[in-house]
Amino acid sequence: MNSTLDIKVQDQSELPGLAESILRLYKNPKIILIYGPMGAGKTTLIKEICRSLGSSDSFSSPTFSIVNEYSYPNGKIFHFDLYRLKNAEELLDLGIEEYLHSDQYCIFEWPEMVENMININYKKIEIEVNENIRYIRIIKK
Ligand SMILES: Nc1ncnc2c1ncn2[C@@H]1O[C@H](COP(=O)(O)OP(=O)(O)OP(=O)(O)O)[C@@H](O)[C@H]1O
Ligand SMILES: [Mg+2]
Repeated sequence: MNSTLDIKVQDQSELPGLAESILRLYKNPKIILIYGPMGAGKTTLIKEICRSLGSSDSFSSPTFSIVNEYSYPNGKIFHFDLYRLKNAEELLDLGIEEYLHSDQYCIFEWPEMVENMININYKKIEIEVNENIRYIRIIKK
């Protein structure tokens, strides 16, 4: 059965706690899909998750590539931004299957195209913004 947790974020100072909760919840599947409109705070949240994992790599949004790679003390974090992806074939060309089965963190912005390629447990995070308050829903799939 799917499990769901809702968290309200009123200030950026709450993001470290949110990142910790996301990492600890639901037996820790390392695949995380983050949904939310433009400017919802997807990249900001991923940065905080990387920080919580202990990564000290310099962080940037994958503007010119689809995937950025960071390291943390226990392995790697792959940060995907699928906004500019044209079709699912591009994902296959990128070697998405290998990433998904690498047992490393794979965190996605604009994950619509990848969701139906995942046949193992993952976490789905939905961000809604209303008058500067963020409503975060964490779902185990
Ligand atoms: N929880 C938050 N509270 C207040 N401001 C936030 C919060 N999260 C992000 N922001 C601010 O919102 C702006 C957009 O954030 P971000 O780039 O993370 O959004 P995004 O969802 O990744 O957007 P895009 O879809 O364009 O990739 C940034 O200026 C960031 O500082
Ligand atoms: Mg972003």
